[in-house]
Amino acid sequence: MSYKKPNLKTKYYHDFVSNIKDQSGKFFAITGTTTGTGYYAALAIGKKGGTVLLLNRESERSEKSFSILKSKNPDASYINIECDLLSFQSVNEASEKIKTICKNRLDVLCNNAGIMAIKDIASNDGYDVQMQTNHLSHFLLTKNLYSLLNETAEKIGEARIVNHSSTARKIMKRLDGKYLEKKSGSLGGNGSMMIPFPGGRWKRYAQTKLANAAFTACLHERLRKSKSKVKALVAHPGLATTELQSTTVKDGGMNKWFTEQFMKGGQTSEDGSMGIIECMTKVDIECGSFYGPGSRMTSAKGKPIKFELEDFYDNDKTKKLLWEKSCNAIGEDFNI
Ligand SMILES: NC(=O)c1ccc[n+]([C@@H]2O[C@H](COP(=O)([O-])OP(=O)(O)OC[C@H]3O[C@@H](n4cnc5c(N)ncnc54)[C@H](OP(=O)(O)O)[C@@H]3O)[C@@H](O)[C@H]2O)c1
Repeated sequence: MSYKKPNLKTKYYHDFVSNIKDQSGKFFAITGTTTGTGYYAALAIGKKGGTVLLLNRESERSEKSFSILKSKNPDASYINIECDLLSFQSVNEASEKIKTICKNRLDVLCNNAGIMAIKDIASNDGYDVQMQTNHLSHFLLTKNLYSLLNETAEKIGEARIVNHSSTARKIMKRLDGKYLEKKSGSLGGNGSMMIPFPGGRWKRYAQTKLANAAFTACLHERLRKSKSKVKALVAHPGLATTELQSTTVKDGGMNKWFTEQFMKGGQTSEDGSMGIIECMTKVDIECGSFYGPGSRMTSAKGKPIKFELEDFYDNDKTKKLLWEKSCNAIGEDFNI
């Protein structure tokens, strides 16, 4: 059962993109570009001359979006790379392909892809499907590409890792290690209540988006300590009418009527993509910045502005937990 998106108007994206400086010569890898924020980010970067590596699982959507991007930006350089975030093996294979294609330059890795409030089931690797898609596979991808990013930063002066979180990071303000373990099926079930007492689906989603923000805080700390010129950044898109809600409604995680009313308070996919685009392209951006729309950390719409990382994940206990559990899950250390 799909839901009918509200008819919202794009307010800022076109002007915002026209003001981005030329990105020629740079290499960007973005996960999840078939629809939504990733698609509009890829469109903008391609328009500005950047080479964009599109990291998507194999599907008709992936092929179709690839050809639409190419037809909208005939001069742009788009490269489709198969990468299924539900499989660590696929992420490892994609990482090797990226290293071969980029050789000695990767300016930006944007960990954008995500799923929301999906059933309590395990990936083939044994982890919660939401946690593996939204965080663990991005952790592995970042670990695999870190040397290339660091090499680029040494040569060019900087490189960036951009994560995509959500206002949902605030639903549960304490990261719980069990969500990063092989405990699928016992991680709260399929309750779909959003507020005030979130059901299992929303608790798991909230933990993944908290993990995205905590991962940024961990990276920021480690990059600073090691004096690396790589920058760690995080954005959230507010409430954007992408395919995220359609997928959730189809899976039973949101009521169709409620979603139709709720999304009227949001913004378009284009406007929602501005946070990650800002993190990828803003000149002189500071490592450890958080970009979100509007004037408050919970605003649903507006131009992206800078916020600070928050204490409820940027603390020693949470950062240690996140790093240890993520390394355990991928079966490798990640040394910066
Ligand atoms: N929209 C919002 O209001 C909102 C709010 C807060 C945060 N966010 C975050 O924004 C990010 C982008 O989401 P969106 O709103 O743009 O949703 P979307 O339109 O559904 O896009 C999600 C993208 O992730 C990809 N993806 C899902 N599972 C994948 C997998 N296993 N391997 C590779 N790619 C996969 C999807 O590809 P397929 O076509 O293969 O499924 C799609 O390209 C997510 O991290 C989400 O949590 C969105």
